[in-house]
This record gives sequence, C-alpha cells and structure tokens, in this order.
Amino acid sequence: MKNGLLLFAGTLGLIVLSWGGVVLSAHRQLGGLTQYKDPVDETLFPAPLTGAANQGRLVYQDLGCVSCHTQQVRREGFGADVARQWGTRQSVARDYIGDRTVFLGSIRLGPDLRNVGARAGTTADSLYALLYAPQSVSAGTNMPSYGFLFEVRPIIPGQASPKALHLTGPAAAPAGYEVVPTPRAEQLVAYLLNLKDSYEFPEAKPFVATVQKEGGH
Ligand code: HEC
Repeated sequence: MKNGLLLFAGTLGLIVLSWGGVVLSAHRQLGGLTQYKDPVDETLFPAPLTGAANQGRLVYQDLGCVSCHTQQVRREGFGADVARQWGTRQSVARDYIGDRTVFLGSIRLGPDLRNVGARAGTTADSLYALLYAPQSVSAGTNMPSYGFLFEVRPIIPGQASPKALHLTGPAAAPAGYEVVPTPRAEQLVAYLLNLKDSYEFPEAKPFVATVQKEGGH
C-alpha cells in the first residue's frame, strides 16, 4: 500500500490526540485536587473516613448497593435532587477525592445516598431496621433485605445485647430471641451515617452570570 505509512501515522496521531483530550486534560483539571482549607478555622475538607466508616465503604462496595443507589447530587436546574432534599448543594469533584472507588452510580431505584447521613430522621436504629427488614420501614419497597448482616440468637438470661435492634410488628424477633448486627452491619451503618457533603466549597456555589448593562446601571 502506497500511503500505508501516512495512514498509520494519521491513525496513531488521532489516538494520541483523543487520549490527550480525554485523559490528560481531565487529569490536568482534576488530578491535582486536594483538600480545601477553611479560611476561618483552617479545618480541611473533605475529612477522610476513618475506622469503621472506612471499612463500611468496602461493605457497601461488596454488597453492590451502587446498583440501585447513586451518590451524586445534581445541580439545581439540572434535576430535582436538591428539591428532594438529597443534598443542600450539587456534588463537586472535590467531594470524592478521599474515595478509592467512587460510587457515583447511574441507576436510581432508591434515593441518592450521598447525604443520607445528614437527613433528618437518619439514625443508626433507622438504618439497621431498613437493612434488616425494609418492608417494616416502607411497605412494598424494592429495597432488598440484608438480613444476613444480622444474627438472630436466643437471649442469654440477664445478658441481652445492648446492640439488639428495637423492632416491632412482624419483623420483631420471636420471644426470647434478639436481632444483633454483625460487625459488617455496624461498619456499613457507620459509613452511611458519615455520608454528608455539607461543606460549601467555593466551586460548589452555583455559577451566576453577571450581566453588565450598558450605561453602568
Ligand atoms: C434493588 C434495589 C436496591 C438495592 C440493591 C439497595 N437498595 Fe437501598 N433502597 C432501595 C429503594 C427502592 C429504597 C427506597 C425505600 C422506600 O421505599 O422508602 C431504598 C432506600 C434506602 C435507604 C434510605 C434512604 C433515605 O433516603 O432515607 C438507604 C439508607 C439504603 N436504601 C441503603 C442501601 C444500602 C446500604 C444498600 C446495599 C447494602 C442498598 N440500599 C441496596 C433500593 C435498593
């Protein structure tokens, strides 16, 4: 082929250019993002997850919660996320810099969870009840039960677990038994309670175009 070399060089050039455009330019924009230091009290945000919450992130990953839940709040005007109280502001790239795997998700069979820890009414008890017996919290819901994260065991007289769930109705343990979260359940709940992006990064403020009128008015 006469123009074989040219064709090869052209194709290679195209690949390199598009790789540069997609990978390199994104890396230049976002790769250097670091924690933001609050100018007043000099605290760094976002705070990294530690201890049980950090381990709970792996439980969330293992159990595939991302297949039904997103973790990204869309900006006002691009969906009703803020109106649904899934967050007080849009998510920005800096929110995720501490996450080794980012669970953005793309399917919303359930609510967005990026700020579930900040919602009024979210407590360790309410999360345990939902994970153990979703139907007892929200009848008819598609949220599956994660009962295997709990142990149903006979109460040792005088030594009932302080961690036992307070369940009522059909989900309650039979008389003489208690439902106790396993360490994985505790880690997952610690993670969920820590999901809150409430700090107002400068870049999270909605962009408002300033229109300059002629004549200085
Ligand atoms: C098959 C889809 C599905 C999967 C998988 C799933 N969920 Fe859900 N989840 C839902 C639905 C639907 C709801 C809404 C419940 C309702 O009807 O109120 C929900 C609700 C929730 C809520 C309450 C949110 C709020 O706004 O109060 C939490 C927390 C939650 N899920 C956590 C999890 C976790 C953690 C996992 C993984 C262990 C998980 N979900 C897996 C479907 C799912």
